[in-house]
Amino acid sequence: MFSKNIACIGAGYIGGPTMAAIAMKCPQYKVTVVDISEARIKAWQTNDLPIYEPGLLELVQAARDRNLFFSTDIKAAIREADIIFVSVNTPTKTFGEGAGKASDLQYWEKVAREILQESDGSKIVVEKSTLPVKTAQAMENILNANDKGIHFDVVSNPEFLAEGTAVKDLMEPDRVLIGSRETPEGLKACREIVDIYANWIPRDRILTTNIWSSELSKLVANAFLAQRISSINSISALCERTEASVAEVARAIGMDSRIGNRFLNASVGFGGSCFHKDILNLVYICESYGLHEVARYWESVVTMNDFQETRFVRTMVRAMFNTVVGKRIALFGFAFKADTGDTRETPALYISRKLLEERACLAITDPKALDNARIDLADVLDKIELIEDPYQAAEGAHAIAVITEWKLYSALDWKKIYDSMEKPAFIFDGRNILDHQALFEMGFNVYPIGKPPLRHF
Ligand code: NAD
Ligand code: UGA
Repeated sequence: MFSKNIACIGAGYIGGPTMAAIAMKCPQYKVTVVDISEARIKAWQTNDLPIYEPGLLELVQAARDRNLFFSTDIKAAIREADIIFVSVNTPTKTFGEGAGKASDLQYWEKVAREILQESDGSKIVVEKSTLPVKTAQAMENILNANDKGIHFDVVSNPEFLAEGTAVKDLMEPDRVLIGSRETPEGLKACREIVDIYANWIPRDRILTTNIWSSELSKLVANAFLAQRISSINSISALCERTEASVAEVARAIGMDSRIGNRFLNASVGFGGSCFHKDILNLVYICESYGLHEVARYWESVVTMNDFQETRFVRTMVRAMFNTVVGKRIALFGFAFKADTGDTRETPALYISRKLLEERACLAITDPKALDNARIDLADVLDKIELIEDPYQAAEGAHAIAVITEWKLYSALDWKKIYDSMEKPAFIFDGRNILDHQALFEMGFNVYPIGKPPLRHF
């Protein structure tokens, strides 16, 4: 009844949404998403999805139980599939050679062996996870070391969606990248994957390359994006000293079409599961090829991000008379960006821990990320309050720090908040989303990013 059986191993932030998009757009294919986590699979089967993403529930509902299925039966899904996407996690290695930089490929390799064990026919295996360049070679070596007379083609198809805009990014991507071996079998496998996306994406946006370019392009795209943020953040530090405004500088340079105006928002620092991990992986790869200058160049992007986070906390403590001991500080936002509940590598975590070291009392508010915050801060729950209502979080606080650019924060009744706070009241806008002049006139001492502060003393 279905023209193709597609399986996806790994039902996380990438596997779930990407497969929901394929299933929705291609009713002729059966798409089965599997995972070792029973809890995750169960959640995908309900309307309380395991991740928050605008528009995702509607997308899933459009295809679920029609041609989109979620299951823990990994073996059956492998056996049935013609094409297997693998989107398991590839975190930074925490042990042994390359610890702290290299990619931990144990989950990927485990999956490759499982695919080999369960398969009794040839299949296409698609790298959806972000992987070091040359991983496909290792995968081919594992998969094709079999005496079953079956052959696997490994294709690279990295994902470029951003959290918070995943559905839009999947429906209308800037491009889809598919890399393959340039052999007749490799090119045939590549065409099969192109055919899937061609169901809704114009052909001229489906880019095919050799497999190594595809693997490397994913790491490089993230490195370039993160580099832009570190570049503008480095300038924000200079703006704070020179009475320039980083927003005005970003606008002025962004109007140069060669530079472009996107991804130039100075912030408290970039977070998310991938920027740190992928840049550090790139650094490790460069080092392993003896390209130490190249490695140092990219490493500085992460160093600058660390500096921005550290600087933010330092500014807070200095502004509040060099001590925050016993002071209530409200953190507005814990997610690494707006429109997601994801808190992986969120600057909020670093900032919380640093403020706790300074013995502040924290009230953390976020519309979607408090469950993850509770897990991230499990060891210090007795020292913090997690509060859904921002007004309540701010009550009696000496300061508010805006960490996530949730739209709702700019629409709050800031006079009401000011009245409920200790005086002098401070606001540290780590996202530059508030009306700083209006807040200053209300009585707040305002510390934006990349602009000199507005102080009453
Ligand atoms: P995730 O942790 O949310 O999901 C990975 C899933 O894989 C988990 O649910 C885990 O249980 C499952 N898994 C691990 N080993 C397994 C096994 N042996 N069998 C079955 N399931 C297994 O991770 P994610 O954010 O979805 O990222 C996955 C990959 O996609 C990473 O390589 C990441 O770099 C890449 N990526 C992520 C994003 C993003 O926005 N999160 C964007 C682009 C690329
Ligand atoms: C990023 C990339 O944008 C995706 O293309 C990629 O697929 C993904 O990583 C991945 O590989 O995981 P994501 O991390 O979900 O997506 O979100 P971004 O919108 O890139 O934001 C990353 C971080 O940078 C956030 O903390 C965000 O607040 C921050 N940021 C972004 C800024 O500080 N300033 C900006 O101008 C833009």
